[in-house]
Amino acid sequence: MSVFRTKSVEQSIRDTEEPEHRLRKDLSALDLTVFGVGVIIGTGIFVLTGVAANEVAGPAVALSFVAAAVACALAALCYAELASTVPVAGSAYTFSYATLGELVAWIIGWDLILEFIIGGAVVAVGWSQYFAAMLETFGLQLPAAISGQDGAFNLPAVVVVLLLTGILVVGIKLSARFNAIVVAIKVAVVLFVIAAGLFFVNGANYSPFVPPSEPAEATSGGNATLVEAVFGQAPANFGVSGIFAAAALVFFAYIGFDIVATAAEETRNPQRDVPRGIIGSLAICAVLYVAVSLVVVGMQRYTDLDTEAPLAAAFQSVGQPIFANFITLGALAGLTSVMMILMLGQSRVAFAMSRDGLLPRGLSAVHPRFGTPYRITIIVGVVIAVLAGFIPLEELAELVNIGTLFAFVLVSVAVVVLRRTQPDLPRSFRTPLVPFVPILAVLSCITLMLFLTVNTWARFLIWMAIGLVVYFLYSRKHSRLARADGGLTPARDGAQSPPSSGAVPPD
Ligand code: ALA
Repeated sequence: MSVFRTKSVEQSIRDTEEPEHRLRKDLSALDLTVFGVGVIIGTGIFVLTGVAANEVAGPAVALSFVAAAVACALAALCYAELASTVPVAGSAYTFSYATLGELVAWIIGWDLILEFIIGGAVVAVGWSQYFAAMLETFGLQLPAAISGQDGAFNLPAVVVVLLLTGILVVGIKLSARFNAIVVAIKVAVVLFVIAAGLFFVNGANYSPFVPPSEPAEATSGGNATLVEAVFGQAPANFGVSGIFAAAALVFFAYIGFDIVATAAEETRNPQRDVPRGIIGSLAICAVLYVAVSLVVVGMQRYTDLDTEAPLAAAFQSVGQPIFANFITLGALAGLTSVMMILMLGQSRVAFAMSRDGLLPRGLSAVHPRFGTPYRITIIVGVVIAVLAGFIPLEELAELVNIGTLFAFVLVSVAVVVLRRTQPDLPRSFRTPLVPFVPILAVLSCITLMLFLTVNTWARFLIWMAIGLVVYFLYSRKHSRLARADGGLTPARDGAQSPPSSGAVPPD
């Protein structure tokens, strides 16, 4: 059946050589790690730590960061193998096209759009809140109608997204350099929170470390986690299940290590450097997060923790407003780099999907001077700007998480499938203990998904249903594989020939 047709790994690599669709290759392992840390440290640690500790898990939020890191580490080991085997833009989308077939690839690509676009919009809105906080320290305030508060139009978020879009269109080299500076500031601020915060820790704040479970206030059935709904329990916070529910929320803080893989095609030595970038950036962030969360819940009682800017507020609470301002500035810089890389990741995935014909092919044209996929970059920027400008996005962080966890599940399955179907492909990084590590990755990601709310599941399923409609009405017919073989190529046929001229076929 044609929905199971796969694009061979060799074909994926050959496609990257077409002149019209070729990206510049100038990133190193260090660039990738900086890139990873740049997108990983963001709203998750700067904002969600406070929400998760205050409302869901108490001081045990540090354990939630550990639980989420375990799931991510297992998935990262799978990501790294596929990224080192299929070093082509598009990340999980490209991997699954080579292994699980076109329909699964489409689903995953559709899913990554959710991760990057809505994730980018969430971070843009968070950025605008820190921006407002910064203006306040100078005694300034935006007019209410454009401040983004209470449902108003969010001008700062729109402006920052459009500025970043311009930078991305001009070229990755510029953006990588810009990003490196921002990442250095951000990591310095996080280290500062840990080192300075230690002096203000009060041991009494750690008790109880795991607060007893209590019923959640004012919730509808849709706010119950899937586990609670399945077992017919009323929504509750804290306790042991609170640790897992908080893990499913703070998982957002780790999103981004997978995006390192989307830049594989722009890396000088992808087989060696992409696994290093993925695993390195994840490890650095996991250590920082556990340390930050332990310090912050030690500085302030979890019931008093701020849910908007908890790291800065913790320093305010111990009488250090200058430290708090420094952290606000760092958060602002940090969120900027997160947004930029989410946008870059999204344009790379859409680029790969368009090159394959699943999205209109004209979209993947590369700018003759800048060497960037400028059309897609601009479209992605405008969509994120519109979402960030008009929509309040709190619960959407959970929607981003469910989409990403689902993508991780599919990637882990793909590792096992590719080992069977193409055992001889060169793999410079091999996931250890296959199939156990991929199986554990699947189980841990599914566990976190179960601790997301019924509302989040419903939104996710609706998004997926829309994706299937688009696939069957458009992408299936326009797919390049369908054009090459009339849709008759059996699954896993690696023999399609590359287009002779490298020109874009007419749509
Ligand atoms: N991990 C990124 C953040 O926390 C998406 O903002």
